[in-house]
Amino acid sequence: SSYESIIVEKNNRIAVVTLNRPEALNALNAQIMNDIVSAFDDIDRDPEIVVSILTGAGRAFAAGADIKEMKDQSFSDMFLADYFAGWDKFAACRKPVIAAVNGFALGGGCELALMCDMLIASDKAKFGQPEIKLGVTPGMGGSIRLTKAIGKARAMDLVLTGRMIDGAEANRIGMCSRLVEHDKLMDEAMSAAMEIANYSLPSILASKEMVTRSLELSTTEGVKYERRLFMGLFGTLDQKEGMAAFAEKRKASFLDK
Ligand code: HXC
Repeated sequence: SSYESIIVEKNNRIAVVTLNRPEALNALNAQIMNDIVSAFDDIDRDPEIVVSILTGAGRAFAAGADIKEMKDQSFSDMFLADYFAGWDKFAACRKPVIAAVNGFALGGGCELALMCDMLIASDKAKFGQPEIKLGVTPGMGGSIRLTKAIGKARAMDLVLTGRMIDGAEANRIGMCSRLVEHDKLMDEAMSAAMEIANYSLPSILASKEMVTRSLELSTTEGVKYERRLFMGLFGTLDQKEGMAAFAEKRKASFLDK
Protein backbone atom coordinates (compact mmCIF):
# COMPACT_ATOMS: atom_id res chain seq x y z
CA SER A 1 0.00 0.00 0.00
CA SER A 2 1.04 3.61 -0.45
CA TYR A 3 0.95 4.70 3.19
CA GLU A 4 3.90 5.52 5.41
CA SER A 5 2.70 4.37 8.83
CA ILE A 6 -0.07 1.87 8.15
CA ILE A 7 -0.55 -1.23 5.99
CA VAL A 8 -3.81 -1.75 4.10
CA GLU A 9 -4.73 -5.15 2.66
CA LYS A 10 -7.98 -5.69 0.78
CA ASN A 11 -9.48 -9.11 0.01
CA ASN A 12 -12.98 -10.51 -0.41
CA ARG A 13 -14.88 -7.38 0.66
CA ILE A 14 -12.70 -6.96 3.78
CA ALA A 15 -9.93 -4.42 4.43
CA VAL A 16 -7.34 -5.09 7.12
CA VAL A 17 -5.65 -1.90 8.30
CA THR A 18 -2.56 -2.34 10.48
CA LEU A 19 -1.04 0.52 12.46
CA ASN A 20 2.62 0.12 11.66
CA ARG A 21 4.97 2.17 13.86
CA PRO A 22 5.89 -0.70 16.18
CA GLU A 23 9.13 0.98 17.28
CA ALA A 24 6.97 3.69 18.92
CA LEU A 25 4.22 1.25 20.00
CA ASN A 26 2.09 2.74 17.19
CA ALA A 27 1.90 6.11 18.93
CA LEU A 28 -0.59 8.21 17.00
CA ASN A 29 1.25 11.10 15.37
CA ALA A 30 -0.09 13.37 12.63
CA GLN A 31 1.32 11.07 9.94
CA ILE A 32 -0.50 7.97 11.18
CA MET A 33 -3.72 9.97 11.68
CA ASN A 34 -3.54 11.33 8.13
CA ASP A 35 -2.83 7.84 6.78
CA ILE A 36 -5.85 6.47 8.66
CA VAL A 37 -8.07 9.30 7.43
CA SER A 38 -7.13 8.74 3.79
CA ALA A 39 -7.29 4.94 4.05
CA PHE A 40 -10.79 5.01 5.52
CA ASP A 41 -11.93 7.66 3.06
CA ASP A 42 -10.79 5.29 0.32
CA ILE A 43 -12.48 2.31 2.04
CA ASP A 44 -15.75 4.24 2.32
CA ARG A 45 -15.70 5.01 -1.40
CA ASP A 46 -14.56 1.55 -2.52
CA PRO A 47 -17.61 -0.46 -3.64
CA GLU A 48 -15.59 -3.68 -3.25
CA ILE A 49 -15.13 -3.18 0.50
CA VAL A 50 -17.83 -3.70 3.12
CA VAL A 51 -16.08 -3.99 6.48
CA SER A 52 -12.64 -3.33 7.95
CA ILE A 53 -10.46 -4.64 10.72
CA LEU A 54 -8.14 -2.21 12.50
CA THR A 55 -5.20 -3.69 14.41
CA GLY A 56 -1.62 -2.88 15.42
CA ALA A 57 1.76 -4.34 14.46
CA GLY A 58 3.94 -5.54 17.34
CA ARG A 59 3.23 -5.20 21.07
CA ALA A 60 0.65 -2.43 20.83
CA PHE A 61 -2.65 -1.59 19.24
CA ALA A 62 -1.63 2.02 19.94
CA ALA A 63 0.06 3.37 23.08
CA GLY A 64 -1.65 6.75 22.74
CA ALA A 65 -1.24 10.03 21.01
CA ASP A 66 2.41 10.73 20.26
CA ILE A 67 3.64 12.39 23.44
CA LYS A 68 6.89 13.54 21.83
CA GLU A 69 4.97 15.28 19.05
CA MET A 70 2.55 16.94 21.47
CA LYS A 71 4.73 17.96 24.35
CA ASP A 72 5.92 21.39 23.19
CA GLN A 73 2.71 22.53 21.54
CA SER A 74 0.78 25.51 22.84
CA PHE A 75 -2.96 25.92 23.05
CA SER A 76 -2.85 28.11 19.94
CA ASP A 77 -0.79 25.60 17.98
CA MET A 78 -3.31 22.85 18.66
CA PHE A 79 -6.38 25.06 18.30
CA LEU A 80 -5.28 26.48 14.95
CA ALA A 81 -4.19 23.11 13.59
CA ASP A 82 -7.46 21.59 14.87
CA TYR A 83 -5.24 18.86 16.26
CA PHE A 84 -7.05 15.47 16.35
CA ALA A 85 -9.81 16.66 13.95
CA GLY A 86 -8.81 13.83 11.63
CA TRP A 87 -10.15 11.35 14.16
CA ASP A 88 -13.64 12.80 13.71
CA LYS A 89 -13.34 11.86 10.04
CA PHE A 90 -12.34 8.34 10.97
CA ALA A 91 -15.26 8.08 13.39
CA ALA A 92 -17.59 9.20 10.58
CA CYS A 93 -16.62 6.24 8.37
CA ARG A 94 -19.91 4.71 7.21
CA LYS A 95 -18.73 1.12 6.95
CA PRO A 96 -18.21 -0.97 10.07
CA VAL A 97 -14.76 -1.16 11.62
CA ILE A 98 -13.76 -4.00 13.93
CA ALA A 99 -10.95 -3.15 16.36
CA ALA A 100 -8.73 -6.20 16.90
CA VAL A 101 -6.86 -5.07 20.01
CA ASN A 102 -3.61 -7.00 20.14
CA GLY A 103 -1.72 -5.24 22.95
CA PHE A 104 -1.49 -1.80 24.55
CA ALA A 105 -4.51 0.41 23.85
CA LEU A 106 -3.71 3.41 26.00
CA GLY A 107 -4.90 7.01 25.94
CA GLY A 108 -5.66 7.89 22.33
CA GLY A 109 -5.17 4.20 21.46
CA CYS A 110 -7.97 3.20 23.82
CA GLU A 111 -10.07 6.04 22.44
CA LEU A 112 -9.37 4.87 18.88
CA ALA A 113 -10.50 1.34 19.77
CA LEU A 114 -13.67 2.82 21.28
CA MET A 115 -14.35 4.74 18.03
CA CYS A 116 -14.55 1.40 16.21
CA ASP A 117 -17.85 -0.46 15.98
CA MET A 118 -16.91 -3.85 17.41
CA LEU A 119 -13.98 -4.39 19.74
CA ILE A 120 -12.35 -7.81 19.87
CA ALA A 121 -9.65 -8.00 22.51
CA SER A 122 -6.79 -10.45 22.83
CA ASP A 123 -6.10 -11.76 26.32
CA LYS A 124 -2.82 -9.83 26.02
CA ALA A 125 -4.60 -6.50 25.44
CA LYS A 126 -4.05 -3.73 27.98
CA PHE A 127 -6.43 -0.79 28.12
CA GLY A 128 -6.12 2.46 30.00
CA GLN A 129 -6.53 6.24 29.99
CA PRO A 130 -3.19 7.28 31.53
CA GLU A 131 -3.38 10.92 30.43
CA ILE A 132 -3.75 12.06 34.03
CA LYS A 133 -0.16 10.92 34.59
CA LEU A 134 0.87 13.44 31.93
CA GLY A 135 -1.07 16.30 33.48
CA VAL A 136 -3.89 16.18 30.94
CA THR A 137 -7.13 14.31 30.27
CA PRO A 138 -8.46 12.11 27.47
CA GLY A 139 -8.67 14.22 24.32
CA MET A 140 -9.93 11.97 21.53
CA GLY A 141 -13.43 11.36 22.87
CA GLY A 142 -12.48 8.93 25.64
CA SER A 143 -14.36 10.60 28.44
CA ILE A 144 -17.54 10.45 26.37
CA ARG A 145 -17.27 7.11 24.57
CA LEU A 146 -15.74 5.29 27.53
CA THR A 147 -18.43 6.58 29.89
CA LYS A 148 -21.17 5.53 27.47
CA ALA A 149 -19.56 2.11 27.13
CA ILE A 150 -18.88 1.27 30.79
CA GLY A 151 -20.77 3.82 32.92
CA LYS A 152 -19.64 6.74 35.06
CA ALA A 153 -18.04 5.08 38.09
CA ARG A 154 -15.91 2.74 36.00
CA ALA A 155 -14.91 5.48 33.56
CA MET A 156 -13.93 7.73 36.49
CA ASP A 157 -11.89 4.88 37.95
CA LEU A 158 -9.86 4.57 34.74
CA VAL A 159 -9.61 8.29 33.91
CA LEU A 160 -8.73 9.42 37.45
CA THR A 161 -6.26 6.66 38.36
CA GLY A 162 -4.73 6.11 34.93
CA ARG A 163 -4.44 2.40 35.78
CA MET A 164 -4.21 -0.27 33.11
CA ILE A 165 -6.70 -3.11 32.86
CA ASP A 166 -6.27 -6.33 30.92
CA GLY A 167 -8.50 -7.71 28.19
CA ALA A 168 -10.41 -9.94 30.61
CA GLU A 169 -11.35 -7.00 32.84
CA ALA A 170 -12.15 -4.79 29.86
CA ASN A 171 -14.43 -7.51 28.56
CA ARG A 172 -16.09 -8.01 31.94
CA ILE A 173 -16.95 -4.31 32.27
CA GLY A 174 -18.41 -4.05 28.79
CA MET A 175 -15.71 -2.32 26.76
CA CYS A 176 -15.32 -5.25 24.35
CA SER A 177 -17.57 -7.32 22.20
CA ARG A 178 -15.39 -10.43 22.42
CA LEU A 179 -12.29 -11.63 24.27
CA VAL A 180 -10.09 -14.28 22.64
CA GLU A 181 -6.76 -16.00 23.11
CA HIS A 182 -4.01 -13.90 21.64
CA ASP A 183 -3.16 -16.38 18.89
CA LYS A 184 -6.77 -16.49 17.74
CA LEU A 185 -7.29 -12.72 17.57
CA MET A 186 -7.03 -12.19 13.82
CA ASP A 187 -8.95 -15.39 13.02
CA GLU A 188 -11.79 -14.27 15.26
CA ALA A 189 -11.81 -10.74 13.78
CA MET A 190 -11.69 -12.19 10.28
CA SER A 191 -14.53 -14.60 10.91
CA ALA A 192 -16.68 -11.75 12.27
CA ALA A 193 -15.77 -9.65 9.22
CA MET A 194 -16.61 -12.53 6.87
CA GLU A 195 -20.02 -12.95 8.44
CA ILE A 196 -20.74 -9.25 7.95
CA ALA A 197 -19.30 -9.26 4.42
CA ASN A 198 -21.97 -11.79 3.33
CA TYR A 199 -24.75 -9.30 3.95
CA SER A 200 -26.14 -6.44 1.89
CA LEU A 201 -24.19 -3.20 2.09
CA PRO A 202 -27.26 -0.91 2.40
CA SER A 203 -28.45 -2.85 5.45
CA ILE A 204 -24.93 -2.90 6.90
CA LEU A 205 -24.58 0.89 6.54
CA ALA A 206 -28.06 1.44 7.96
CA SER A 207 -27.27 -0.82 10.93
CA LYS A 208 -24.08 1.09 11.76
CA GLU A 209 -25.87 4.41 11.36
CA MET A 210 -28.75 3.39 13.62
CA VAL A 211 -26.67 2.01 16.46
CA THR A 212 -24.29 4.97 16.29
CA ARG A 213 -27.13 7.51 16.29
CA SER A 214 -28.85 5.73 19.16
CA LEU A 215 -26.07 7.01 21.42
CA GLU A 216 -27.03 10.59 20.61
CA LEU A 217 -30.84 10.35 20.55
CA SER A 218 -33.64 9.97 23.09
CA THR A 219 -35.49 6.64 23.02
CA THR A 220 -38.52 8.15 21.27
CA GLU A 221 -36.42 9.89 18.61
CA GLY A 222 -34.16 6.87 18.23
CA VAL A 223 -37.04 4.48 17.68
CA LYS A 224 -38.54 6.83 15.08
CA TYR A 225 -35.22 7.16 13.32
CA GLU A 226 -34.75 3.41 13.31
CA ARG A 227 -38.22 2.87 11.87
CA ARG A 228 -37.64 5.34 9.03
CA LEU A 229 -34.35 3.69 8.08
CA PHE A 230 -35.94 0.24 8.39
CA MET A 231 -38.81 1.23 6.10
CA GLY A 232 -36.35 2.85 3.70
CA LEU A 233 -34.66 -0.52 3.20
CA PHE A 234 -37.89 -1.77 1.60
CA GLY A 235 -36.77 0.35 -1.35
CA THR A 236 -33.79 -1.99 -1.90
CA LEU A 237 -33.61 -5.05 -4.13
CA ASP A 238 -31.76 -6.83 -1.35
CA GLN A 239 -34.74 -6.60 1.02
CA LYS A 240 -36.87 -8.33 -1.64
CA GLU A 241 -34.14 -10.90 -2.22
CA GLY A 242 -33.49 -11.54 1.49
CA MET A 243 -37.15 -12.09 2.33
CA ALA A 244 -37.87 -14.09 -0.85
CA ALA A 245 -34.90 -16.35 -0.07
CA PHE A 246 -36.26 -16.99 3.41
CA ALA A 247 -39.71 -17.88 2.06
CA GLU A 248 -38.18 -20.14 -0.60
CA LYS A 249 -35.83 -21.79 1.92
CA ARG A 250 -32.67 -20.86 0.02
CA LYS A 251 -29.61 -18.75 0.75
CA ALA A 252 -29.98 -15.07 -0.16
CA SER A 253 -27.78 -13.70 -2.89
CA PHE A 254 -27.37 -9.99 -2.28
CA LEU A 255 -26.44 -7.35 -4.85
CA ASP A 256 -25.73 -4.37 -2.55
CA LYS A 257 -28.66 -2.68 -4.26
C1 HXC B 1 5.34 8.59 21.90
C2 HXC B 1 5.72 6.48 22.70
C3 HXC B 1 4.43 6.43 23.27
C4 HXC B 1 3.58 7.57 23.09
C5 HXC B 1 5.43 4.58 23.71
N1 HXC B 1 6.30 5.31 22.99
N2 HXC B 1 4.27 5.24 23.88
N3 HXC B 1 6.15 7.55 22.03
N4 HXC B 1 4.09 8.62 22.41
N5 HXC B 1 2.34 7.59 23.56
C6 HXC B 1 7.66 4.93 22.59
C7 HXC B 1 8.60 5.01 23.75
O1 HXC B 1 9.01 6.34 23.95
C8 HXC B 1 9.72 4.13 23.28
O2 HXC B 1 10.50 4.82 22.34
C9 HXC B 1 8.99 3.03 22.53
O3 HXC B 1 7.69 3.57 22.21
C10 HXC B 1 8.78 1.78 23.35
O4 HXC B 1 8.16 2.13 24.57
P1 HXC B 1 8.77 1.75 26.01
O5 HXC B 1 8.24 2.74 26.97
O6 HXC B 1 10.23 1.59 25.93
O7 HXC B 1 8.12 0.31 26.27
P2 HXC B 1 7.70 -0.33 27.66
O8 HXC B 1 8.75 -0.07 28.69
O9 HXC B 1 7.32 -1.75 27.39
O10 HXC B 1 6.39 0.45 28.14
C11 HXC B 1 5.22 0.39 27.39
C12 HXC B 1 4.21 1.49 27.88
C13 HXC B 1 4.91 2.86 27.83
C14 HXC B 1 3.73 1.17 29.28
C15 HXC B 1 3.01 1.42 26.91
O11 HXC B 1 5.51 3.04 26.55
C16 HXC B 1 3.99 4.02 28.07
O12 HXC B 1 3.60 4.27 29.21
N6 HXC B 1 3.66 4.76 27.02
C17 HXC B 1 2.87 5.97 27.12
C18 HXC B 1 1.43 5.61 27.32
C19 HXC B 1 0.61 6.87 27.45
O13 HXC B 1 0.80 7.69 28.37
N7 HXC B 1 -0.37 7.06 26.54
C20 HXC B 1 -1.21 8.20 26.57
C21 HXC B 1 -0.61 9.25 25.70
S1 HXC B 1 -1.50 10.77 25.83
P3 HXC B 1 12.10 4.96 22.50
O14 HXC B 1 12.49 5.81 21.34
O15 HXC B 1 12.34 5.55 23.83
O16 HXC B 1 12.58 3.54 22.39
C22 HXC B 1 -2.81 10.53 24.86
C23 HXC B 1 -3.76 11.63 24.81
C24 HXC B 1 -4.85 11.37 23.82
O17 HXC B 1 -2.98 9.55 24.22
C25 HXC B 1 -5.74 12.50 23.73
C26 HXC B 1 -5.09 13.78 23.40
C27 HXC B 1 -4.65 14.57 24.58
